Amino acid sequence: MSEKISGKKILVTGGAGFVGSIISKILLTKGAKVTVLDSLFTGSERLLPKHPNLTFVKGDVCDKKLIESLVKKHRLIIHAAAKNIIISTKNPYEDYETNVGGTLNILLAAKKHGIDKIVYTSSASVYGNPTQLPISENANTYTLTPYSVSKLAGENYCTAFYESYELPVSTVRYSNVYGENQDPANPYCGVISKFFESALKGSNLKIHGDGEQTRDFTYVYDAAEATIEALINPKSVGHVFNTGTGIETSISQIAKMILEITRSKSKIEYIDKRDIDNIRRRVVSIEQIRRVLRWSPRHTISHGLAETYDWIKNK
Ligand SMILES: NC(=O)c1ccc[n+]([C@@H]2O[C@H](COP(=O)([O-])OP(=O)(O)OC[C@H]3O[C@@H](n4cnc5c(N)ncnc54)[C@H](O)[C@@H]3O)[C@@H](O)[C@H]2O)c1
Repeated sequence: MSEKISGKKILVTGGAGFVGSIISKILLTKGAKVTVLDSLFTGSERLLPKHPNLTFVKGDVCDKKLIESLVKKHRLIIHAAAKNIIISTKNPYEDYETNVGGTLNILLAAKKHGIDKIVYTSSASVYGNPTQLPISENANTYTLTPYSVSKLAGENYCTAFYESYELPVSTVRYSNVYGENQDPANPYCGVISKFFESALKGSNLKIHGDGEQTRDFTYVYDAAEATIEALINPKSVGHVFNTGTGIETSISQIAKMILEITRSKSKIEYIDKRDIDNIRRRVVSIEQIRRVLRWSPRHTISHGLAETYDWIKNK
């Protein structure tokens, strides 16, 4: 991987966010010259390493002129800027402006100036409540939240720009990413970081609903590495890839594992469901990304939780 990245100029939108900061960190380690564009809406410059090959630009993906000037200087782009599900549910218009309008700005600038590859970071939330598990990429999409509408719209624009203009685009659909740099203060589905925070404070681990809802939890380094593989592997062009583990874990299981790892005396408390908790079970098939890109996750859930705990202890 390093030889394909070293010396390359790569633009990472949303690079001061949770996943974007880990992507940027890996790229820098592998010798890339990284430009991070972030409005710092939920992100923070503190998540980024101090590195001579890193340029930070505070700005908005909705700013067409800024996007053009940045895209023009890069041949490789990872587009991870987005408004999260909580903001989206509260304010669908703000979500639309960033997640749809911002994505269109990136694609239009890329079409105008030419690029080698764009990777768009989408979400397994586009599947809604699936009829079959594990969910494959060609399963029906069913958008249950304004966020999943806008993420799917971004994907559809990517596909349209590939089909209509042969723009080299690839999409990764993440599934519940967790780990280093996830901020428990950011309310977006950070169940794992919130459970760690509660376990270490000695307060109850609060589960919305009965705890039997399941997700495919993906360690952030795995999600970031899959994204980078999609960026550098020529076979990714035109593809949409699920990015997960293929393994289903319930929220109650996660809570118990975290209590065990931290040796906390905290209790599990079951509370009311939220309006965004409308997906009962989710686990994605990762056969396509395995087959086409030869990518597989390196972390089991217990391994990922142990690494997350190490990071929390040492921060
Ligand atoms: N974390 C997950 O579990 C998960 C799951 C599925 C998909 N995703 C996708 O992965 C990407 C990264 O998500 P994350 O979890 O790191 O969230 P995050 O909120 O930590 O990161 C998003 C970043 O985008 C920035 N941003 C928001 N609006 C912006 C704008 N208008 N202009 C420029 N920057 C802006 C934020 O400041 C933040 O740094 C997003 O596209 C998200 O939809 C994440």
